[in-house]
Amino acid sequence: TGLEPSWLYQLSKAGKLCVPAMNVNDSVTKQKFDNLYCCRESILDGLKRTTDVMFGGKQVVVCGYGEVGKGCCSALKALGAIVYVTEIDPICALQACMDGFRVVKLNEVIRQVDMIITCTGNKNVVTREQLDRVKNGCIVCNMGHSNTEIDVASLRTPELTWERVRSQVDHVIWPDGKRVVLLAEGRLLNLSCSTVPTFVLSITATTQALALIELYNAPEGRYKQDVYLLPKKMDEYVASLHLPTFDAHLTELSDEQAKYLGLNKNGPFKPNYYRYWSKRRVMEFSSFPPFRHRHGRSAR
Ligand SMILES: NC(=O)c1ccc[n+]([C@@H]2O[C@H](COP(=O)([O-])OP(=O)(O)OC[C@H]3O[C@@H](n4cnc5c(N)ncnc54)[C@H](O)[C@@H]3O)[C@@H](O)[C@H]2O)c1
Repeated sequence: TGLEPSWLYQLSKAGKLCVPAMNVNDSVTKQKFDNLYCCRESILDGLKRTTDVMFGGKQVVVCGYGEVGKGCCSALKALGAIVYVTEIDPICALQACMDGFRVVKLNEVIRQVDMIITCTGNKNVVTREQLDRVKNGCIVCNMGHSNTEIDVASLRTPELTWERVRSQVDHVIWPDGKRVVLLAEGRLLNLSCSTVPTFVLSITATTQALALIELYNAPEGRYKQDVYLLPKKMDEYVASLHLPTFDAHLTELSDEQAKYLGLNKNGPFKPNYYRYWSKRRVMEFSSFPPFRHRHGRSAR
């Protein structure tokens, strides 16, 4: 799950994938819950436990407005932080604008922000040159991929002093006395410094288990040496297993309604490429014709 799905697709494209692979990371029940809701809860927990920071009025820049970035931004905004977003993708950038965030280049706000949070899955999103310009006391942490997003190696140079102030919290001190508060040495903040909701882990683990069962039980030839998404019906099954926790009661389609929508009453309730408004769904429309119901209305 921590594996970037793009690596699997690159392996497959190069003909180097030796076994069928299930891209669990991009199944809806993983992405929407682990990435979005888990990070929405744990970003604040991780920052509080390590720094005791107060969020109201603080200027925060969140790099990347994918699922993880969206979760972080909504939590920070709810506590009164002033949130800036950086993005490379115009669709996600536009989503951030419509959600009420200022989309900027990191260099435009680098001198004024109190916190920098990376959520891109990319590398060297925050460079040494940028860290040289942040203000005293700026908190820098990563919620995205592994330990690649902040160029931490560039901070291990003789002119900078590292002071461990508590577990997972380092002050990196510049020659003029400026301190940058680096959390978890640039590794994932929430996995290193906070609790992660077990309910979300249950959803992710169920998704993984079902993917393994599907690969194991599949008849010969169903899956080749390629990358697959979890069948939509299983995604829906994972969600339905977790609904009783909330005493949630699903509405059942009437025969007439099922016929009107062209659906089986037992699901799947959405086409495979329906991504529940993630940017990936929109991107997929560039290679697939837009899904239309039988009556010509676009899928919503
Ligand atoms: N901390 C956690 O608990 C946790 C949970 C789930 C996923 N993750 C990891 O977080 C990362 C992001 O996951 P996601 O689901 O949000 O992915 P995503 O692809 O939905 O979002 C990443 C966003 O970053 C943007 N981006 C890429 N490079 C950028 C750059 N240089 N500057 C600004 N924006 C840039 C992309 O356009 C994209 O919109 C992944 O590496 C994932 O494995 C962490």
